[in-house]
Amino acid sequence: MRFLLAGFPLQPKPILAPNRFTAIKNHILLLLVLVLEKKFDYEDDGEDDKNAEIANAAFVRQTARSIMNKQFYITTAIDYVNGQPHLGHAYEKIVADVIARSHRSLGQEVFFLTGLDEHGQKVQQAAIAEGKSPQTYCDELAADWLAFAKKLQLTNDDFVRTTQPRHKEFVQAILSKLNDAGQFYKKTYSGFYSAKEETFLTEKDRNPDGTFDPGYGEVVELQEENYYFKLGAHQQWLIDYIEKNPSFIQPDYRRNEVLGFLKNNTLEDLCISRPAVRLNWGIPLPFDKNFVTYVWFDALVNYISIPAAHGDKTIREILMLRESVVAGGASLWPADVHVIGKDILKFHAVYWPIMLKAMNLPLPKQILVHGWWQKDGAKISKSTGNIVDPIAVIDEWGLDAFRFYVLRELDIGPDGNWTDAGFRSRYQAELANGLGNLVNRSLSMLKRYRNGIVPEKSDELSADAAKAADETRALLKQNQLQAALQSIWLLVARANKYVDETAPFKLAKDPAQAKRLDEVLYNLTETCRVLAVLLWPFLPGTAVKIFGQLGLNPDESGPDKSSEAPPSSLRFDAASWGKLNAGHKIGEPAPLFPRKDI
Ligand code: MSP
Repeated sequence: MRFLLAGFPLQPKPILAPNRFTAIKNHILLLLVLVLEKKFDYEDDGEDDKNAEIANAAFVRQTARSIMNKQFYITTAIDYVNGQPHLGHAYEKIVADVIARSHRSLGQEVFFLTGLDEHGQKVQQAAIAEGKSPQTYCDELAADWLAFAKKLQLTNDDFVRTTQPRHKEFVQAILSKLNDAGQFYKKTYSGFYSAKEETFLTEKDRNPDGTFDPGYGEVVELQEENYYFKLGAHQQWLIDYIEKNPSFIQPDYRRNEVLGFLKNNTLEDLCISRPAVRLNWGIPLPFDKNFVTYVWFDALVNYISIPAAHGDKTIREILMLRESVVAGGASLWPADVHVIGKDILKFHAVYWPIMLKAMNLPLPKQILVHGWWQKDGAKISKSTGNIVDPIAVIDEWGLDAFRFYVLRELDIGPDGNWTDAGFRSRYQAELANGLGNLVNRSLSMLKRYRNGIVPEKSDELSADAAKAADETRALLKQNQLQAALQSIWLLVARANKYVDETAPFKLAKDPAQAKRLDEVLYNLTETCRVLAVLLWPFLPGTAVKIFGQLGLNPDESGPDKSSEAPPSSLRFDAASWGKLNAGHKIGEPAPLFPRKDI
């Protein structure tokens, strides 16, 4: 018996076990579906080939997964492949990665999607400028972007490229459905067109002197026939929805911006096509091959095309894209968070919800909007050379130093400003002298005075550690990453102060103070362990290094590589005080953030 996904390649992940209880539950589920599978075997037509086996295995996993809870589904914007990744791209992906890791650390199953937006005029033009076919151009650059995702240690579960058949076929299926449902119409439009922004401009976009902002690039007068999507009818519905769901667009001031826009403008219908004669690097409209799909309609759909490729039940059932051959499937949609930059808010908060409504699909739970980075107070721009090369920074200072700076410096919402001096100063003060110094001196003293053996438990710093853990947990649930780091660093500062107050180096000289020294050393060592747990979503490499130096091998408890979930010893629950046992021997201390001459 074969279970077909007809055109949608399956990429099932193994069943995950966020905690013991879930693991047991999974085993029961698996047994259940295995029994079911056996039943199907008897009813089979006797065919017993390899394909059927593979399909059955996929079915078993998918069914088990579909019975399980919905996964926490987080996405980023998909980046244009018309250049190399820069600081802005890196920031957004790191923010999403920290949120994904936090939810895993809190014991949830997570699906994190990122990827590339490969169609459209910008890409076509860039390819032509390099004398390459758009596909070759995209393939070459995609390799760099994938390597970049690895460099940032992103824990994405999939990487979409909009030129992949799984995405293109899905976009065409949606377009056909919406067209059949009468959501599109064709009309001739004449106006001013910006190729750079791939959009028609209106009178409102003109400067008082009649010119257009140089940011639009060359603006030409065009008259062309295109397909349009009926947006206008849904304007009041969207206003009501946003008003009723305050957390739908965050932060609040971005939500107010969207409401202001919707209340003060009449929504024009959205042009969803481009004539193929002018732009052929796109997905052909299934009902009119003289046109390709407008790049935004194509790009936004990635948020559902990939879940569909993983067999998402909601999407498949509501869109009725396939005969109901597949009983199982991932449970991803609706997305829990779309992380995007402020410049693409209208596409996500106005067009996307209306597109979803037209498809009868539920809306994402949240659109989380971050600000833009500048460097030295000016716009980041390749042409003026005002850039930050994330790869160069990471190679010189280490990934966690880069992740720390962008997350600690900029809250999710406002714009930020990168300065090399600011970066060096945070590295020195907060990483090298703060966290690094605490871990290094705590473990070195334990090594020197107690031969690296953890003394009896003591709880002098347990209240401080519990406060940091509680606050961090609560802040992470609200995506307050910067505030969570501040809270963690209060614990770093408290522990460093504790060293100064208790002066273990003096206690070590007085045999009568041996018990007191034991207490101090336990408190410091255990604080280092708690810090590693709290830091894992932000600075995963550092957390693992601290564990290694503590002689706790996080790999022992079996990290789930496929889901990038942390091993249980590094999950949030492990932040509770007193898990380090007396008699345990730590590993070798080494500087986490070597001091640099700056
Ligand atoms: N391809 C579209 C997004 C489609 S999503 C369905 C796009 N691509 S982009 O490469 O121009 O931008 C990708 C993301 O990077 C966007 O969220 C954008 O806001 C973000 N950033 C680009 N430059 C940035 C900064 N200087 N600072 C912070 N983020 C910025 O738009």
